[in-house]
Amino acid sequence: FGHPEKKVTLYFLVTGLLMLLIGVAIGPLQALNYANIDVYQYLPFLKSYYQGLSLHGVLNALVFTTYFISGLLLYLPCRALGVRPNLVVAWAAYWTMTIGVLMAAWAVLGNNATLLYTFYPPLQGSPLFYIGAALLVVGSLIIAVQVIVIWTGWKRQHPGETTPLVAYMSVATWMMWVIASLGLVVEVVVFLIPWSLGWTKGVDPLLARTLFWYTGHAIVYFWVLPAYISWYALLPRQAGGVIASDSMARLSFVLFLLLSTPVGLHHQYSDTGLSIGWKTVQMLLTFLVVVPSMLTAFSVGASLELAAQARGGGGYFGWTRRLPWKDPVFTAQVLAMISFIPGGAGGIVNASLALDTAVHNTAWIPGHFHITVGTATTLTFFAISFWLLPHLTRKPLASVKMALWSAWLWFWGMIIFAVGMHWEGLIGIPRRTYFAGATGLSEMISRAQVPLALTGISGMVLAVAAVLYFTVIFRTLLGRTRVSAQAEVPIPFSQSLAEVEALAGNGGSPKIAGAVRVLERLWVFFALALALVLVMYLPTFISLLLNPHPVPGLRLW
Ligand code: HEM
Repeated sequence: FGHPEKKVTLYFLVTGLLMLLIGVAIGPLQALNYANIDVYQYLPFLKSYYQGLSLHGVLNALVFTTYFISGLLLYLPCRALGVRPNLVVAWAAYWTMTIGVLMAAWAVLGNNATLLYTFYPPLQGSPLFYIGAALLVVGSLIIAVQVIVIWTGWKRQHPGETTPLVAYMSVATWMMWVIASLGLVVEVVVFLIPWSLGWTKGVDPLLARTLFWYTGHAIVYFWVLPAYISWYALLPRQAGGVIASDSMARLSFVLFLLLSTPVGLHHQYSDTGLSIGWKTVQMLLTFLVVVPSMLTAFSVGASLELAAQARGGGGYFGWTRRLPWKDPVFTAQVLAMISFIPGGAGGIVNASLALDTAVHNTAWIPGHFHITVGTATTLTFFAISFWLLPHLTRKPLASVKMALWSAWLWFWGMIIFAVGMHWEGLIGIPRRTYFAGATGLSEMISRAQVPLALTGISGMVLAVAAVLYFTVIFRTLLGRTRVSAQAEVPIPFSQSLAEVEALAGNGGSPKIAGAVRVLERLWVFFALALALVLVMYLPTFISLLLNPHPVPGLRLW
């Protein structure tokens, strides 16, 4: 493998993709359910629609993402810093996660943890599920601490130097995750595990939900920031250009570090018992997250325009024709970014106290997160796998054409899915509903025939996309040809415009150099983020702890 950390990275990525394969296999069945076609009656291994949905949500949103991100954000920063990770620690993280996932999977497959991916109490699943979920998060935190420690050591050995961009962004993401994962860890370890083991008599559902959403919203940034790293710092080189603004990229990551966590209450607008004042404050903070998202959109757009200009492109939109559309690594990422535009717009609706009332718990919500985590993140991870697996294994990508088709079909499948689901949501069709077993929906269903059919069709398109994608991946991994070390796919670390200008002797702006020096103090921003979280959440947690309402639990196992 050349670099020994390649092997552990490959294990993280491939295990994550195997989890996605199982999780995604159930998706089309759910889509058919929305088209009122019930295939569950022919599936003896699933006890209910909800068991399948639990498996789908947990494997896709929690397990696939955590493995993929842990591998990616261990490998990239270490290579960017030129430091080898401690392999014993990296493997310990991998096995901690894997033992956890096996425990949780055992519980879900045995129908002992059909809790959906939010596992809200008072529904109570097997302790194996909660312990497994805790181990998954602990595994990711081991990687987080390792990367932060490696970076701190690098800083000590390179005083006064600016951290390479990819490493900087990775460290900021891991710092954010250290703060953000606390809610889930406390919920599971302090409340749900003892409760499911029968050591405590009850658990307060509102407190548990608040802890869940403390992590549950920030986790969406944990899913999307690794995609941003690829868009900001790798895609420019893949497109044949440079990073338009290195300092803008750093600034947006600092803003994400500060703003990702203290906004979770916007998932609980309809939970009574929480202060409307704090909900409003957190709503306003949520809107602030638009700022780094816009910074990203404009600066990544500028990088692509620079790349197209370098290939002779010009005009307002004409330059887009000069981009390398035949390369699946490039195209999948651009399609992922495009899907994020309606995804972000829908997110603003969800985060608005008044508008959320119209869409809460309707099909709108899965419509929203399939074009964010299900496309912006997942399709970017597809793109990354198209170059990173060949890089790690020295095996060429099995079929460029098939990879390209899988990206386009995934994109269009998810767009059709999102149109259908958002539309259904506006009619009032609920999410998490097994249509064959539901009563009282017929009037609403008759008004939603077109969008429900769209959801069903999108499921079929996505099934084809998934088959093509996994065929490319397995054919690549199982291929026999290996290229020489010299022909290895390089890691596409991009240069910034400022670096190129400095090399050309044009110097750089002292103001920007000063800004980068300030942004370099990630520990200061980490402390500020922690303080902001305390201010935003402490009053709510104190009030919940002082007025507990424990309930015994509805045992499902
Ligand atoms: C829920 C379809 C891929 C994450 C759903 C639902 C459908 C669906 C129809 C709504 C079910 C309901 O509320 O009753 C699909 C299809 C996919 C796909 C057809 C592709 C073949 C993904 C991916 C992710 C994902 C890639 C994340 C990375 C989720 C989550 C839920 C969900 C978290 C919510 C589970 C819950 O409510 O507990 N999916 N999905 N899906 N999907 Fe997907």
